[in-house]
Formats: sequence, C-alpha cells, structure tokens
Amino acid sequence: MNRTTARSSDSSRSRPRSPVVGVLAAIGDTPLVALDRYLDRNDIRVWAKLEAANPGGSAKDRPAARMIQDALELGVITTDTTVIESSSGNMGVGLAQACRYHGIRLICVVDHRAHETNVRVMRALGAEVRVVSEPDPVTGDLLTARLDLVAELLEGTPDSYWPDQYGNASNPAAHAEGTMREIDEALDGDLDYLFVATSKAGTLRGCCDYLRGRERPTRIVAVDAIGSALFGGVRGRRLLPGFGAGIATDLSTGAWFDHLVHASDLDCVIGCRRLVAREAIFGGASSGAVAVALEALAPTMASGSRCAAILPDGGTGYLGTVYDDRWVERELGCSARQLDERVEGRGIPALSTGA
Ligand SMILES: Cc1ncc(COP(=O)(O)O)c(C=O)c1O
Repeated sequence: MNRTTARSSDSSRSRPRSPVVGVLAAIGDTPLVALDRYLDRNDIRVWAKLEAANPGGSAKDRPAARMIQDALELGVITTDTTVIESSSGNMGVGLAQACRYHGIRLICVVDHRAHETNVRVMRALGAEVRVVSEPDPVTGDLLTARLDLVAELLEGTPDSYWPDQYGNASNPAAHAEGTMREIDEALDGDLDYLFVATSKAGTLRGCCDYLRGRERPTRIVAVDAIGSALFGGVRGRRLLPGFGAGIATDLSTGAWFDHLVHASDLDCVIGCRRLVAREAIFGGASSGAVAVALEALAPTMASGSRCAAILPDGGTGYLGTVYDDRWVERELGCSARQLDERVEGRGIPALSTGA
C-alpha cells in the first residue's frame, strides 16, 4: 500500500477561502482529498470530494440554495410563499437553511427512514416537518406516499410552491456549475473515472451535463442502491436514507452513464467502515456505496487511471445504523465479528456491475 505522512508545512496548504457574506455563499468549494490508502493498487489515483463540508452537511446544500435563489429571481416565489418539498433528509436540511436565510416558510415531507438528526436539524432551522410512515397503498412505495402528501399540502396552502427536486433544472445545474466544475478545475480536466451516488439523479445529471458539454472522456459510474427503481430496477427493501429511490425521476429518466453499480445496505456499511479504517473518513451510507463501487471497478482500470468519488454526506446521522454493530446484526444479519472480517479483508464485496 502506498502511504504518505500528512504534513502541515505552509507549502502543503492551499490558500484560505476569502470571507463571504451570508451562510449560503459558503456553500461549495468543498475539499478534494487524495486517497492514497483506500485501494490496493498504488498505480491508480483517487480523490474524494467531501460534500459533508458544506454548511448544512451535505451535497444537497447546493441544489437547495440554487432552487430557492432561482425561484426568487424569476419571481416564482416571494418571502410570503410557503415552500413545500419531499426529502429523504439532506435536501430538507439544505432547504431549511436556504428558506430560513431568505425568511421563507418551509414544510418538508420526509418518511420514517430519514434519520432523526436531520429531522431535528430541519426543525431547529425553523422548518415544519411532516413524517410519512405508511407507503402508498397502491404502489407500496414510500416516496410516492411522500409526494401524495406534498400534493395535498400544496392544494390546501395558498401561495405555496413545490421546488420539485426530482425534475427542477436548477438541481443538476448546481452540480454542473458547482460540484463537477470544482473537481474538473482542481484536476485540470484530467479525469478517467467519476463515481456518483444516486438518489434523485440530480448530481449525476449535473456532472454528466458538465463533462459531456466539454467532451471530456471521463467514464461516469452511477452507484445506485439494490432495491432502487431509479434506472428500471425492481423496487425492494432499502433501509438507509438518501440513496436510491422507489420510482424513476424526471432526472433519472434518460440519465447517461458508462457503468451502473448496485450496492446493498451491507455494502454501504462495509464501504463506510473501510473509509474509516483506511482513510479516517467518516462518511454517510452512500459514501460507503461509492467506496465499494470504486473498489469493485479498480481491477478493471488501466494503470495510471485518475478517479474522483463524490462523498455526499458525513456519518453523524448514521451513528444509529451504519456505525452501530447491533443495528447491522439485527437488520442486515451480519455479526460484529463477520463485519470486522469483511471490513479488514481486501476481498471485494458482492456487487452487481454492468455497463
Ligand atoms: C446521502 C446522499 N446520497 C446521494 C446523493 C445524490 O443524490 P441525487 O441523486 O438526488 O443528486 C445525495 C444528494 O445530495 C445525498 O445526500
């Protein structure tokens, strides 16, 4: 394994960010960290984009702030509007932050899989949160049930607005002009693989738009959840929030990628624990999925390949799931000893890959 020792000399540090006005201006410019311990191969270079460094704690800060800003600028909403949106958690926090900043009322609809930390953060930021606990009776899907409640609330709330993160062009635009542009500029446009976790496919669409618009040869790896129906898969049991979706979205339909990797809840746990063990990076569930996908594809990569992986959020909200051995044993049937063996082993977790 190729290991280096971190140095703190002035020459190894980049310039500090300039002061900005207001918390929303502090979104983006997240760290891009070279990972030289994660893979067995030291002839492949890997960088991780740490989206947990956004002020609201996730990649969703970007599209949330952008959707509200664009709607204000277009005059679609004013400070008298009530914004109503469905979220698996992180978008709710991002919207709560943006709406609070602009003095706009927010009602956020989540389902019971949203972690408690995010729900409490949304409320602390002044949002009203409605929690759906029963799936839609016809489709059996929780996201459909959330969207039904959003429609009902919009109907009953005068001057209300649905940002529709599932189809709003400002969502991918925030990632094209933010997340992907930052990676591209930091790596001088020299990138062979990009790994992107998918939930509503806004990040994926934005990154694709940017890379295709510049005719970059980068191979895009979409990482979706087993049990997600985002790209035509069969909906199934998924326990971890913010990763995969029970239905295809406007943004996922027609999304373009070179590889599609599916990761299970247990793959997410193993990837997260390996990120901690090898790199001291404390990521959320979909970050673990991205990490195991990277590991699964690494043996197929040419020597000298350069890869970037977007890690959408941090691990705090997952302390009671991904990082709790008892939860992993109870819900995923993997004992602490078995988990340790899989985390320490350099074997590749069972993942389904395909073009
Ligand atoms: C935990 C998590 N995983 C994955 C994603 C990617 O989501 P989307 O496909 O909706 O852009 C996000 C979005 O920020 C996220 O918060």
